[in-house]
Amino acid sequence: MSDRISSVLTEHRQFPPSTDARKGAHISGAAALKRLKAKADADPVAFWEGAARALHWQAPWKQALQWKVPQAKWFVGGRLNAAENCLDRHLQTPRANKAALIWEGEPGETRTLTYRQLHRDVSRFANVLLGLGVKKGDVVGIYMGMVPEAVVAMLACARIGATHNVVFGGFSADAVAERMNDSGAVVLITQDVAMRRGTTVELKLAADAAAKRCRGLKHLIVFRRGNGTVPMKAGRDHWWHELMEAAPATCPPVGLDAEHPLFILYTSGSTGKPKGILHTTGGYLTQAAWTHKHIFDLRDDDVYFCTADIGWITGHSYIVYGPLANGATVVMYEGAPTYPEPDRFWAMIERHAVTIFYTAPTAIRAFMKSGESWPRRYDLSSLRLLGTVGEPINPEAWMWYHSVIGGGRCPIVDTWWQTETGAIMISPLPGATTTTPGTATQPLPGILADVVHKDGTPCKPNEGGLLVITHPWPSMLRTIFGNDERYRQTYWSEFPKSRTCPGWYFTGDGARKDKKGNIWIIGRVDDVVNVSGHRLGTAEIESALVSHKTVAEAAVVARPDEVKGNALVAFVTLKHGVAPKNLDRLKAELREHVGAEIGHIAKPDEIRFAEALPKTRSGKIMRRLLRELVTGGAVQGDTTTLEDLSVLETLRADED
Ligand code: WTA
Repeated sequence: MSDRISSVLTEHRQFPPSTDARKGAHISGAAALKRLKAKADADPVAFWEGAARALHWQAPWKQALQWKVPQAKWFVGGRLNAAENCLDRHLQTPRANKAALIWEGEPGETRTLTYRQLHRDVSRFANVLLGLGVKKGDVVGIYMGMVPEAVVAMLACARIGATHNVVFGGFSADAVAERMNDSGAVVLITQDVAMRRGTTVELKLAADAAAKRCRGLKHLIVFRRGNGTVPMKAGRDHWWHELMEAAPATCPPVGLDAEHPLFILYTSGSTGKPKGILHTTGGYLTQAAWTHKHIFDLRDDDVYFCTADIGWITGHSYIVYGPLANGATVVMYEGAPTYPEPDRFWAMIERHAVTIFYTAPTAIRAFMKSGESWPRRYDLSSLRLLGTVGEPINPEAWMWYHSVIGGGRCPIVDTWWQTETGAIMISPLPGATTTTPGTATQPLPGILADVVHKDGTPCKPNEGGLLVITHPWPSMLRTIFGNDERYRQTYWSEFPKSRTCPGWYFTGDGARKDKKGNIWIIGRVDDVVNVSGHRLGTAEIESALVSHKTVAEAAVVARPDEVKGNALVAFVTLKHGVAPKNLDRLKAELREHVGAEIGHIAKPDEIRFAEALPKTRSGKIMRRLLRELVTGGAVQGDTTTLEDLSVLETLRADED
C-alpha cells in the first residue's frame, strides 16, 4: 500500500450554526467547543470519566483506563447494568410514562411503549431467558426484523448479563449458522415471519435451517408477527407470548463488571470470515450516551427517528443504547422506506412530528432519484436536526438533504464512526460547529485522531493519508471474538508500538485534513485507486459524477492498465425520467464533467450505464464485486451480503 493519496475535491460552502441551533444547545458556540476540546484532548481519560458519571453505577470504578496496546479496559472495578441505565433509572423521573418507542409496522399499525411498559416487558423476558437456563456470560442470538421485541430481547440479555449477538434479519440461514457457531450461542430468538416490502420473510424457516447446523443452540424463541403457521419443534421451540404470559414481571438488573461483554456484532472483513466485534458495558454505554446527547443535541421533548436496522451497529448504539440511556423517544420503523410509496419516511416524520432524523447517504441519494415531489407533499416543519452516517456524503446529496428535507434550517451532523468504534468519533456538534458539505468535520472532544503517512508522519494540510485514532476511547472494540491475534493484526499492526509511536488504531479509511482541521473521508483504502501515480479516492470521483444533473448514483472501480497502472471504470445510474438519445455523447459529457470538477487525472476511462448498483443489505455499494467484474469478468468473492443478486446478473449480461 502506498501512502500517497491524492485528494482533489474542493468544497467551500460553509454553514455556521444558526442562532436557533445555538440557543439552549448543550454545547453552544465555537468558543465553548474550543475550550471543551482543549481540556478534553489534554486529558481524554478525565473527560470520559466525566461522561461516565452521567450513568448509574452500582459500584464506582477504581481505575479509569488500563491500557496495554492493544488491550483496553475502561472504568476498571466499576459495576453497572446497561438495561438498568436504559430503563429503571427513568422510572423515578417524569420520563416513566414518556414514550420510549413509537413503532410503526410496515402495514401501517402503530404501537407505543412507555419507559414503564418497556421496563415491564424487558423484566419479563429476562425471566424467560433465566427460565430457559441462560446464564450470565452466555451468548444469545437475535435474528429478527424491526419489531419492539428485538429491543426487548437485547435489553433482557443485558439485564441478566447474557451477551447478545444480533444477526440482521436479511441474512441467510448460512450466515446465521456461521455467526451462532462462531459465538457459541445457546438460544436463538426469532419471528415466524418478518414484514418487508409488502410481503413476508420466512425468518423461522431460515432459523430452522441454521439451527440444524448449530449444535450449541438449545432453544429457539419465536415471536409471532404473522399468523403463526410455522413448524415448531417440541422441546426446542417456544412461542414468545406463551413464555411471557408465565413469566414474573420483576427481575432485578444484575451488577456487571464494566468490562463485561455486552454484545458481539459481526461485520465483514475485506476478505474471509466475518469478524465478531466484541463490545463491553461501561465504556460502550458511556460513549453511546454522551454522543447521542451532544451530537443530536437532545432535549426532553424530542422525537428522534433513526432509520437504521438494529442488525447493524447504528441500530445498537443509536436506536437502543444511546437514546434509551438518555430517556429519549425513539421512532422505530419496521419496513422498507419505499413501501407503499417512496414517501414513507416523510409521512412518518409528519405523523409523529419527528424532530431529529438520522439516516444514510445511500437513502438520501435514492430519495433524490425518486424526486422532490414526494417529500414536498408533507409538513416536515417539526424537524430541527438531520444526521447522516455510513459513507461519505457527496456534497450534492448533502445540499439536497439540507434544502429539501431540512428546509434550509436544520443543521446536518455528518457522523463518522465504525462497528469497531462502537460510537460516533468524528462529527459536528450542531450548536458549535461550522459545517461544510462532505466533511464529518473534527474528532469529538476526548477523541484523538490524525491523518498520517504509512510511516506514521503526519500529512500536511490537504495531503491524503490514513486515518488513525491515536488514543484509546471508551467504546472501542475490545477484540475480535475468539481471535485476539486477528484483532491485533487487523487494527494494530499498521502502526505498532515502537520508540516513536505509542501504538495507533488503524481505521482502514483514507482521509485528508484541510487547513481548518476538518477531516474528509476519501473512502476505505481498498477503495483508493492509483491512476498514473496518483492515488484517488473513488468516492470523490463518484461525488463528481453525482453532481451532474443526469446522474443518480455512481460507483467507480479500477481495472489494471498497462500505461496508467489502473484505469477507472465508472458504473452510473441515471435519474428517474432521464432518457438520453445519445449515450456516447452523455458519456463524453460526464467525463468532461469529472475533468472539470476534479481534474483530468480523475476522468473515468470507461463509463457503463446500469439500472442499479450492487449493494449490501445495509446499503453500501459493493465495489469489490464491480472490481471483480471489470478485472476478471467472473465474480468469485463472497456475495452473501448482497441485497439483490439479480443486479449483478444484469451488469454481467450488459458486458457480453
Ligand atoms: C464509512 C457504520 C464517511 C467508513 C457506523 C467507515 C463513513 C465505515 C461515515 C464503517 C461518514 C461511516 N463519512 N465515511 N460519516 N460513516 N463511514 O462498520 O469507511 O458499517 O470505516 O459502521 O463506513 O462502516 P460500519
